[in-house]
Order: sequence, then structure tokens, then C-alpha cells
Amino acid sequence: MRILISGNRRGLGAALTEHFSQSGHQVWGFSQASSSPNRVDVSNFEEVQTWVESVVQHYGAPDLVIANAATVLSPAPLAQVDPADFSRLIDVNVKGMFYLFRAVLPHMTGGVVIGISSGYGRTTSPRMGPYCTSKWAVEGMVKTLASELPKTMAAVALDPGTLQTDMLRQALGEGARFFPTPDQWVDKAARLILSLGPEHNGQSLSV
Ligand SMILES: NC(=O)c1ccc[n+]([C@@H]2O[C@H](COP(=O)([O-])OP(=O)(O)OC[C@H]3O[C@@H](n4cnc5c(N)ncnc54)[C@H](OP(=O)(O)O)[C@@H]3O)[C@@H](O)[C@H]2O)c1
Repeated sequence: MRILISGNRRGLGAALTEHFSQSGHQVWGFSQASSSPNRVDVSNFEEVQTWVESVVQHYGAPDLVIANAATVLSPAPLAQVDPADFSRLIDVNVKGMFYLFRAVLPHMTGGVVIGISSGYGRTTSPRMGPYCTSKWAVEGMVKTLASELPKTMAAVALDPGTLQTDMLRQALGEGARFFPTPDQWVDKAARLILSLGPEHNGQSLSV
């Protein structure tokens, strides 16, 4: 299977990339860090489009796209959040997901696209306003997309569960260590992801 994934240098994206590659799939991913050989800022449509076009041109359209890249702010009441920080988070978590879908979907006639969501895309929590806002937007984007795709395809919103990553450490601090690591999670997650097909179109699922 040909798989594209955003945000795959750390956390869940890195674990999925390694797992899928070791299982014999072809995986292409990018992240924002300057040390990454595939340095793409998901909030920059031109960069995303150039990267997608180059992968598709050389290797063909993907069968599976995982829009995973996202960011979080340190917890704070909405009334105190810096507007520039809020804007940047929406640029990455919401516009970035749209940019990846927008760049890749015109090349796809079949396959599955996944928007990585969160429990916070289905419930809310005080002091997590910007992140909750972005993940509710992800759910809305994926469900709208699902209503537009051909019957050979599926768009799915996937809540990965709560995992010990840099993102969770930023949100929870020390409490993050009580949750499973991406390596402990990845087998089950990969099995679920690879089982997805047109019959799952529009669903909000959880690992
Ligand atoms: N961890 C959890 O408990 C949890 C729970 C629910 C949902 N999620 C969701 O799961 C996904 C992965 O989260 P995670 O915990 O693995 O996060 P993470 O460890 O912080 O990793 C995030 C990844 O996204 C990349 N990224 C961030 N901003 C980017 C940008 N502007 N352009 C390109 N790449 C960018 C990062 O790239 P660099 O490495 O280059 O910085 C990194 O590889 C996210 O969508 C998150 O919202 C996580």
C-alpha cells in the first residue's frame, strides 16, 4: 500500500511510519523540523502541494492518507489565550489538514483519507479551548468530505486515544507518563487503520 502521512518525525506519526514501513508498505511523510529531510510546514499550502506533487509524480497516487500533524498550546482559559497562538494552532491543525486533503484528493480515485481527531473533537475541556476548537473542526471537515467522495473512497475521523507523546507532555505535564507510549499503541492502531474501506466513510472512530 502507498501511504502518505503528515507529522511523522515524532509521536504517533513516527510510530505509524516505522510500523507500516516494516510491514512492507511504502510510506512518505514530512514534518516541520529543519533537521527533517522531508521538511514541509503543513500550514503552507505551496509547500504541501509541491511535496504531494513530487511524491505522486514519482510513485503514483496514495491508497491511504493520514493527516496527523498537529500542535497544542499550554492549557489556559480561552479569555487569556494569545490571539497569535490561537491563529497559529488553527493554521496547523485545521488549515494544514485541509491543505493536505486539497493537494492529494485530486489525484485519488480510490482509497482512504484519515483526519486524526481527538476525544477533544467530540467533547470539551476547560483550558483546552483552541485545541478543542481545532479538533471539532477536523470532525466537521471529515464528515463534509465524506459526503462528497466517490463510493470507492472513505474519509474517516480517528481519535487515537491518549498517548504519551511530546504533545501530551505539553498539555498534561508529568501526568503524561501514566499513558501508553506510541510503541505500545501502534499495533492496534495500524490494524484498525488498514482495515478501513468505503464502508467506513464518514465515521468517527477511536483506537
Ligand atoms: N498524544 C495524544 O494523546 C493525542 C490524543 C488525541 C489526538 N492526538 C492527535 O494525534 C496526532 C499526533 O499527535 P502526537 O501526540 O504524536 O504529537 P507530537 O508528538 O507533538 O508530534 C506532532 C508531529 O506533527 C508535526 N507537526 C507539527 N506542526 C507541524 C507543521 N506546522 N508542519 C508539519 N508538521 C508539523 C511535528 O513535526 P516536528 O517533529 O518536525 O516538530 C511532529 O512530527 C495529532 O493530530 C494530535 O492532535 C494525540
